[in-house]
Amino acid sequence: MPELIPLSAGNAGAVENLLDDAFGTDRQRRTAYLLRQGTVYIPGLSFGLIDSRRLIGSIQCWPVRITDDDGEAAALILVGPVAVVPDRQRGGHGQILMNAMLDAAMMGGNPPLMMIGDAQYYGRFGFGADETGGWRLPGPVEAHRLLLRNPGGHILPICGALGPDIAD
Ligand SMILES: CC(C)(COP(=O)(O)OP(=O)(O)OC[C@H]1O[C@@H](n2cnc3c(N)ncnc32)[C@H](O)[C@@H]1OP(=O)(O)O)[C@@H](O)C(=O)NCCC(=O)NCCS
Repeated sequence: MPELIPLSAGNAGAVENLLDDAFGTDRQRRTAYLLRQGTVYIPGLSFGLIDSRRLIGSIQCWPVRITDDDGEAAALILVGPVAVVPDRQRGGHGQILMNAMLDAAMMGGNPPLMMIGDAQYYGRFGFGADETGGWRLPGPVEAHRLLLRNPGGHILPICGALGPDIAD
């Protein structure tokens, strides 16, 4: 049974290798990387899965915000990347990582969660694209892959620009 651990600086190299394996070495050009540029992952919402001393999965979350056309900003948490090493995919590990993150997010009274991902997979965790059609990103994304999970019903802009949540 893999062990769930909080991610720390000591796992950084293993996480990078895992992400290269899951997404390819050109992954840093993806829009999600531009969106979180300059931020640091949120330790309490970022986890790894260790099996036989090998990192087989990880999830990281980042502080971002959406700013409406009047300049009003609302905090969001960007979920991802979520990754499982190719030889251990479809074994329930992605689900363990997502549920650990969701449990931690619920406890902390955190802002709504967003991600760029496949609704066919992330829909089961409450993510959907219904409310994100007017959101702009710092790079290209297919509209159906821009997902929000907002069970608390936080009021968010219908139209606005997403960006990293860093001091101006
Ligand atoms: C996406 C990922 C994190 C899921 O983790 P996992 O441990 O493989 O998946 P789980 O075992 O938790 O879940 C398996 C289920 O998810 C589905 N699934 C897995 N990856 C999927 C994907 N990219 N799209 C749609 N469904 C997917 C499987 O068909 C299976 O469905 P079922 O429960 O109806 O049979 C993992 O496969 C991964 O790292 N993939 C490579 C990176 C990637 O493609 N990410 C895309 C998301 S942005």
